[in-house]
Amino acid sequence: MILAVIVGNGAREHAISKALVRGGANLKAFMSSNNPGIAKLAQNNVKLSSLDNFKELIDFSQGSDFVVIGPEAPLVVGVANALESAGIPCIGPTIEAAQLEGSKMFTRELLRKYDIKSNIPFESFDTMEGVEHWIDELGLENVVVKPDGLTGGKGVRVFGAHLHNKQEVLEYCQECLNSSGGFVIEEKLDGEEFTLQTFVDGTHVIPTPLVQDHKRAFEGDEGPNTGGMGSYSMKDHLMPFITKEDVSLALAEMEQSISALKKETNAEYKGFLYGQYMKTRKGIKLVEFNVRFGDPEAMNVLSIMESNMVDICLKIIDGTLTDKLEFKSVATVCKYLVPAGYPMNPAKNYPIEVDESSLDSLGVQYYYASVDKREENVYTTGSRTMGLLGTGNSLEEAENLAEQATKHVKGPLFHRADIGTNKLLQKRIDHMNTILK
Ligand code: AMP
Ligand code: GLY
Repeated sequence: MILAVIVGNGAREHAISKALVRGGANLKAFMSSNNPGIAKLAQNNVKLSSLDNFKELIDFSQGSDFVVIGPEAPLVVGVANALESAGIPCIGPTIEAAQLEGSKMFTRELLRKYDIKSNIPFESFDTMEGVEHWIDELGLENVVVKPDGLTGGKGVRVFGAHLHNKQEVLEYCQECLNSSGGFVIEEKLDGEEFTLQTFVDGTHVIPTPLVQDHKRAFEGDEGPNTGGMGSYSMKDHLMPFITKEDVSLALAEMEQSISALKKETNAEYKGFLYGQYMKTRKGIKLVEFNVRFGDPEAMNVLSIMESNMVDICLKIIDGTLTDKLEFKSVATVCKYLVPAGYPMNPAKNYPIEVDESSLDSLGVQYYYASVDKREENVYTTGSRTMGLLGTGNSLEEAENLAEQATKHVKGPLFHRADIGTNKLLQKRIDHMNTILK
């Protein structure tokens, strides 16, 4: 029997935990608050701690076969290195390899050095010298500013959407310098985004079905950016506006990036690699890498994975993950329930009521996210609360189920009813057609 440890307590980690248990693992969970879904799968074999408390994690993980890291924060400060020094295999890259998410400057420079085509025009700065010159060269209206370092998806500012004149751009650059010590100014892309999540064993990069996330808080893609309000995937594992060739190209670029990383840092990348790409008039372009599964996108792919997650993890450790993975041929729609006021001023510490038996009879999968179970009640903790995932032969069927499921969770929560609807999908298709015209 394999003993696996999951680190993290969001819906992504709930989905990973479910896949591990389905694959036959005994599970232990290292969490920062008590996610009741994960705790149940781990049969209450849990440790509540800060996720970067390496000493407690190593003590807790002794005797396990491997540890799976869900979120990026512990990876970019070296949790994989710490576990490996203690002789415990880790699914998740080392601190050197985690720079692919931890430093936008590192990643853009790496891709430039190795001439990886999905890279975009950019310059990185650690002073204000040359900034104005580069803005003028790119054209003010084409500017995107990204602080170096982790920002939970909230650090990117795009001209037109968040920045409205040169003064604002320069002020934001200075702010990034003060907070992160550096920033990237890159070309603004226009097109449709897709998420390509992969498993990496050091060399091989094995894909899962494409997913599209919805970052804006409100219906019709309005409001502030969030961690992601929901996501969908199609029965054929593509998107209506993304071809098989587009995916092969993105995948080849990910393979080249992993090999460039190895040449540059000697780091073997082992874990999950998330490629956020945009299809533009100039081809497939990289928006960013994440060194983990996506949240919510992990729920879309892991819920329909037929391959065994435990086998995959063992092969990642051995460097022998060469097989194509199997996924059910169904569409999926994931809707996130989030606290009223999210993301600016979320309702924290409110009890929610989840009617698990109704969700089970509906045939919907549900994943607890930013919640804390204390005694008999489950409370919101401020970030996204719960992911509800419907599957079906069509997107419509999957969307209907996810929407119905929202009625079985009570509390001061809201969700985007438009995610996964044909109307929103059509809007994306039309947008892509306009771009490619
Ligand atoms: P990131 O934190 O890099 O994922 O960026 C968050 C979001 O900002 C992305 O999902 C995009 O929607 C947007 N974004 C990031 N980079 C660019 C870019 N170069 N051009 C246009 N939009 C971008
Ligand atoms: N859904 C976006 C992310 O996981 O970064």
